[in-house]
Amino acid sequence: MLRIRQVAVIGAGTMGSQLAALFSGLGLSVRLFDIVPSGASDRLQLPRQALARLRAMKPAPAYLPDDLQAIVPANLEDHLHHLAEADWVVEAVVERLDVKRAVWGGLAAHVRPDAVLSTNTSGLSIAAIAQALPPDRRRRFLGTHFFNPPRYLALLEVVPGPETDPALVRAMVEFGRNILGKGVVVCRDTPYFIANRLGLYGIMATFRAMEELGLDFAAVDAVTGPAMGRPRSATFRTLDLVGLDVLADSLRNLAAALPAEAEHFRVPGVVEQLVQRGWLGEKAGRGFYCREGDQILVLDPATFTYRPRAAVSFASLEAARSREQPGERLRVLLEADDPAGRLAWRVLRDGWRYAAERLEEVAGGRVDAVDQALRWGFGWELGAFEAWDAAGVPETVARMERDGVAVPAAVHELLASGRRGWYERRDGASWFFSPGRGPLPVEEDPRTLTFAARKQAGGLVRSWPGASLVDLGDGVLGVELHSPKDAIGADILVALQAAAEQAPRGWRAVVVGTDRPNFGVGANLVLLLTAAQEGDWEAIDRMVRDFQHTLQALKFLDVPAVAAVTGLTLGGAAEIALHAARIVASAETYMGLVEAGAGLVPAGGGCKEMLLRALALLPQEAEERRGARSMAPPADPMPWIARVFETIATARVSGSAHEARRLGFLGPCDPIVPSRLQLLWAARQEALHLAEAGWKPPRPARVAVAGEDGYAALQLAAYTMQQAGRATEHDVRIAQELARILTGGPVPAGTQVPESYLLDLEREAFGRLCRTPQTQARMLHLLQRGKPLRN
Ligand code: NAI
Repeated sequence: MLRIRQVAVIGAGTMGSQLAALFSGLGLSVRLFDIVPSGASDRLQLPRQALARLRAMKPAPAYLPDDLQAIVPANLEDHLHHLAEADWVVEAVVERLDVKRAVWGGLAAHVRPDAVLSTNTSGLSIAAIAQALPPDRRRRFLGTHFFNPPRYLALLEVVPGPETDPALVRAMVEFGRNILGKGVVVCRDTPYFIANRLGLYGIMATFRAMEELGLDFAAVDAVTGPAMGRPRSATFRTLDLVGLDVLADSLRNLAAALPAEAEHFRVPGVVEQLVQRGWLGEKAGRGFYCREGDQILVLDPATFTYRPRAAVSFASLEAARSREQPGERLRVLLEADDPAGRLAWRVLRDGWRYAAERLEEVAGGRVDAVDQALRWGFGWELGAFEAWDAAGVPETVARMERDGVAVPAAVHELLASGRRGWYERRDGASWFFSPGRGPLPVEEDPRTLTFAARKQAGGLVRSWPGASLVDLGDGVLGVELHSPKDAIGADILVALQAAAEQAPRGWRAVVVGTDRPNFGVGANLVLLLTAAQEGDWEAIDRMVRDFQHTLQALKFLDVPAVAAVTGLTLGGAAEIALHAARIVASAETYMGLVEAGAGLVPAGGGCKEMLLRALALLPQEAEERRGARSMAPPADPMPWIARVFETIATARVSGSAHEARRLGFLGPCDPIVPSRLQLLWAARQEALHLAEAGWKPPRPARVAVAGEDGYAALQLAAYTMQQAGRATEHDVRIAQELARILTGGPVPAGTQVPESYLLDLEREAFGRLCRTPQTQARMLHLLQRGKPLRN
């Protein structure tokens, strides 16, 4: 196991500075180095400017602003002696072989012999850079290629050079996964490694197909986004984010490094022209797109002017979007004989062919590595070979032949072996076909656990449309959330109730989680709004009671229940998590009780749990004194309660799991896991630890509420917000209801109440708000527009 505590990042540009932010947030000590610009009066000018840029960047490159504070700026003239403290020296200077070699030549004498040395090159030869180091240091040198933005993209390509110690490669893979939270792929030292080589090829194929089919940028983006299982930013919006100068440089470098493919990687004319004009994308304010007010305009390449985007509508796109599974979406698109279908086919066909043709060269025949690199590096739902399997290899190969496209030998070999796809399940494990080698097991992080894999292995216990019970192994019962649009519906409650019922009968623990990017976005508002519009208050009361009972049952379960949260964890989904014995959160968790946006207050026990968490921060002794009504002045709970009030009233959502802890959603014992990929595994471990340590459910709480004085103080706070123009009249109404719940309302301060009393207050407030036209308008707006209404 590598012991890396101190990191020196060399180069405070786009990547170096963001890597420093990420490492600092992961608890490493970071020094950020750059050169001293000639004539600079501040010898730390570059790293200091970089830190200022990081503070202003959106989305935030760090989990918390404090992470940036902890980074120590340094320069490569006055502070080289500090390099001896570094366990890892990672270089991210400009992408030029001469500069990188000069930098490493200069660093070599200052680094410790046991330090890990790595370069973040996008595509230069690791072997060529290593030449700048003395032979004894080359064993400790390798490529560590992160993707931009490094906090948000999961992929880390680890690239050994010819002399890298194989033990170091293994250790770096483990460090990358467990400590840096990355999906790690080991690559061969070939130009642009795996993801960018195939990715850039795909972009060029997209340009070509677009021209042949006479489509424009917006139409291409409509097809090459979620409909094909790729991110919303699709092709050209992504390139605007990357920077068109970066694209052009990469294409030139690739063409130079691969003369046989130079023609394919020639910079498209439109990109040349955009770069010449300085229209480099997002950073220049314009590229393929530009923003005018709140309108997004698209480039007309004939005139180099921007015009409004024409609405893109193809029947196949609509049909594809309605399918949940990415493989199904692909099949729908590929079967369509319209421009969307034809574009998708060409882009996929060329991408698949190239991936198969270059498989040996870039990945040593590892189909799994290629797919992982594409999924983690670009946020695709399926890698090239996975997508190919979903579309059907024999069928698509026949279509390639009809198109007159040469089918690579590797594909003929696959089909000749009698297989119909690149992957297969055998003996409870996943295998892929490696041309020239035959079937090989898919290489996985030993800390990977997914509901999908457990179900494939026969672990499904019961299933509903929105949730399943799954045997996660080692006696842990999993509740998988998988409802449409990630909403918390009635069948999720049924699944949680079934888990609570089953758990004491032979299970050691329960884990609630999901394989999806989001844990959940809140209660399904459709039923609620319908009931409100029909005036069926009893039905609403029943729904809320049912939710409360379910979550109380989870809280007082005889075995520990752990929530594994990630991504959006909002409203009712956050309330589920708040009732678990522990929350295990991936670093990228955006948690909030956002009910106010729908004109409501949390009523599944969310207010109650936040209040209990806040009061738990009070000194115990003072709590007892308050209970005993001693003469000594009690500790004032109001600052804590006011914080909860503000968090819920303003529907605050955390920007990371670390911030969720600051806001009080996570407690001090709730672990944060750097890696989304290891989340479910970590949650199962936590559940088992709790079970082994003899976990007992908590005693039902009794709370000494703040009562009438606190109620008045919070109401005043709400009015002040309205006076300052930060709250509407209805916001104040909601805040008043919230104030009543969090303080117990007009009762004497210190009145002892049970949990059920607080739940009653939540439910009553919820019912009253549902009766108001403003709340109904907010719900309707959310359902129709997906955004809150401030009425
Ligand atoms: P950048 O241009 O933003 O920053 C480069 C930094 O290197 C600057 O701070 C500059 O002052 C410093 N530098 C220049 N000459 C130097 C020298 N002689 N000695 C020491 N430092 C020197 O570049 P960026 O984009 O951060 O790229 C850095 C590396 O990361 C490159 O190898 C690039 O290929 C790679 N990369 C970039 C990605 C991106 O999206 N920008 C993504 C992944 C890798």
